[in-house]
Amino acid sequence: MKKIIAERAGKIDASGIRKVFALAATLDDPVNFSIGQPDFDVPEALKAEAIEAIKAGQNKYSQTVGDITLKTKITERMKSEFGWDDPAVLVVSGVSGGLLLAFLAMVDPGDEVIIPDPYFVMYKHLVNMLGGKCVFVDSYPDFDLPVEKIAEVITDKTKLILLNSPSNPTGVVYSEQRIKAMAEIAAEKDIVVLSDEIYETFCYDGPCPSIGTMYDKSLVIRGFSKSHAMTGWRLGYVATGPALRNVVEEMTKIQQYTFVCAPTPFQKAAIAALDYDVSDLVDAYRKKRNLLYDGLKDTFELVKPGGAFYAFVKAPGGAATEFVEKAIKNNVLIIPGNVFSEKDTHFRISYATSDEKIGQGVEILRNLALQTE
Ligand SMILES: Cc1ncc(COP(=O)(O)O)c(C=O)c1O
Repeated sequence: MKKIIAERAGKIDASGIRKVFALAATLDDPVNFSIGQPDFDVPEALKAEAIEAIKAGQNKYSQTVGDITLKTKITERMKSEFGWDDPAVLVVSGVSGGLLLAFLAMVDPGDEVIIPDPYFVMYKHLVNMLGGKCVFVDSYPDFDLPVEKIAEVITDKTKLILLNSPSNPTGVVYSEQRIKAMAEIAAEKDIVVLSDEIYETFCYDGPCPSIGTMYDKSLVIRGFSKSHAMTGWRLGYVATGPALRNVVEEMTKIQQYTFVCAPTPFQKAAIAALDYDVSDLVDAYRKKRNLLYDGLKDTFELVKPGGAFYAFVKAPGGAATEFVEKAIKNNVLIIPGNVFSEKDTHFRISYATSDEKIGQGVEILRNLALQTE
């Protein structure tokens, strides 16, 4: 029989998170610690901007690089934050869209991409799909950037190093000192660093350092999905300094023939979103982080998350899938570590839910751990 499906599709499998979602649908009012999106809605003022843009007929294609007012505003931000003279900016359909374009522009079959483990699920699958090779570098148990180990696995084939801070799934914020060390090694070996900073607004214990301020061959990708709860609006941006201008130009060319542009009316709303103060939302999430961490720290082994809205917790006995199955049977949805890692010793909690649900979930998980001992 004629083969219909391309080989590249066979290189990826369905997201493990989706399997938990499917189970969730069968439970009655579970504690849902599995969702990777904020529990608040898009702020009303920003919804009004999008509605206004649609009513005013801003429904056509924008420029491929993005709405010019939005792009100019992002460019000014990047200039002042990163000190880049003449930043190259591309507005993309979510950080996912930016990641795909970046990999399409840079990763050839056989190229190696260094990824600290645990990692955001999409990286592995996109790299595999393009015929690249993921080189995972273990960052257990503290999940800070494993700079020395990364240095050891750099080869002539290394094309990219991926950073994600604050991290999904660990919630860890990379320390300035480690990022600086990473920048020095990347500069010495002349390797591009792709920094996924989608959670940069969710920083609870001080600012989250970015490699963008330290290394001119860093490609920074940020977005609006998490900071403004716009997951369904599909908006993000890629920015870099003059040293990687050609990469953004290639990405723009590929966007022309794939996504074409990010959704126009939402780009209009994003102009206002850049000035919208989300600090009260971040304060509420810091409180949730404290509630979760204080509730679990005496029973479980976990690193205090400094950002995003996740915690990566060691399962009792280091058997994650087993513990996750027990938790789900007890109405708590969590994700096993092997979805985000080559190991299966931990589980991910997303605490993007109500304080009440966090309290209930903590109680159930603690009781389960005590029974497992
Ligand atoms: C680390 C990380 N990068 C990228 C994304 C994708 O975000 P977007 O909705 O902007 O495509 C997510 C979403 O969960 C994420 O956690």
